[in-house]
Amino acid sequence: ESTLGAAAAQSGRYFGVAVASGRLGDSTYATIANREFNSVTAENEMKIDATEPQRGQFNFTAADRVYNWAVQNGKEVRGHTLAWHSQQPGWMQSLSGNDLRQAMVGHINGVMAHYKGKIAQWDVVNEAFADGSSGARRDSNLQRSGNDWIELAFRTARAADPSAKLCYNDYNVENWTWAKTQAMYSMVRDFKQRGVPIDCVGFQSHFNSGSPYNSNFRTTLQNFAALGVDVAVTELDIQGASPTTYANVVNDCLAVERCLGVTVWGVRDSDSWRSEHTPLLFNNDGSKKAAYNAVLDALNGG
Ligand code: G3I
Repeated sequence: ESTLGAAAAQSGRYFGVAVASGRLGDSTYATIANREFNSVTAENEMKIDATEPQRGQFNFTAADRVYNWAVQNGKEVRGHTLAWHSQQPGWMQSLSGNDLRQAMVGHINGVMAHYKGKIAQWDVVNEAFADGSSGARRDSNLQRSGNDWIELAFRTARAADPSAKLCYNDYNVENWTWAKTQAMYSMVRDFKQRGVPIDCVGFQSHFNSGSPYNSNFRTTLQNFAALGVDVAVTELDIQGASPTTYANVVNDCLAVERCLGVTVWGVRDSDSWRSEHTPLLFNNDGSKKAAYNAVLDALNGG
């Protein structure tokens, strides 16, 4: 196959991209995004600040722009993200305790109702663990509202849209030896044992010199899958875009039956949140980088 999405589809997987609504009018950008990818994540438009700018007043203008573009072009959509310490609107940042929990539940219900039956996977909770060696939860207003805020979010999400796969999503959880990975693993194991509804784990995979790719990523994916959840690479970018590393990540996903697919976090280097790292698959002029060819070859079976 000659495009990433078609090549991934050979094994029943998708190859996705984060799309920014403001760039869809750029024809180079839109042409590549439409040609190469068969799954779309809104880079910012489905986040809490974008979709509920005032409490109880939802705005899906930008989110629908991404959603409609994706669906009109035959792509599935990953929803990102419903409960997160970051990109909370001002009104939510100032909440705490039970009021915040009710606001979180209201937010999940409002957004998931709008997209009911239309989203393949939802990142229900994003980035709830602390960096470093503590293995602790990240401090946030949500965490301070009670350690069970994550399972409250998942139970709410399951009731709101039973058709969506419900994911927990985080970064620096790709290396099996890291404390953050182990903490996330313990949580997912506990959720599965107690019947908290969780279907998938997203590994963001923002690889850089401080948190480089390690070949034990495959072990990580296998160990999570063995708990009975699907796994996915959800926000891939690699500082310097080493073709070998890109191919390794793709091959890790292909090696794990429950790996649903890979999403890269932008189209061209100039579209990246870390453009100075030149971490993506396309040059600024839209031409394919060596990493693109490595990924396509891997998806086509090497
Ligand atoms: O849209 C405004 C623009 O009007 C304004 O002029 C400009 C000035 O700063 O800001 C623009 O908004 C920015 C937005 O990206 C769109 O470009 C925000 O400031 C900026 O904070 C926001 O950054 C996003 C970041 O999440 C916020 O946390 C990045 O685009 C987005 O790539 C990044 O994505 C996250 C995932 O959601 C979760 N995992 C990590 C990943 C990378 O940080």
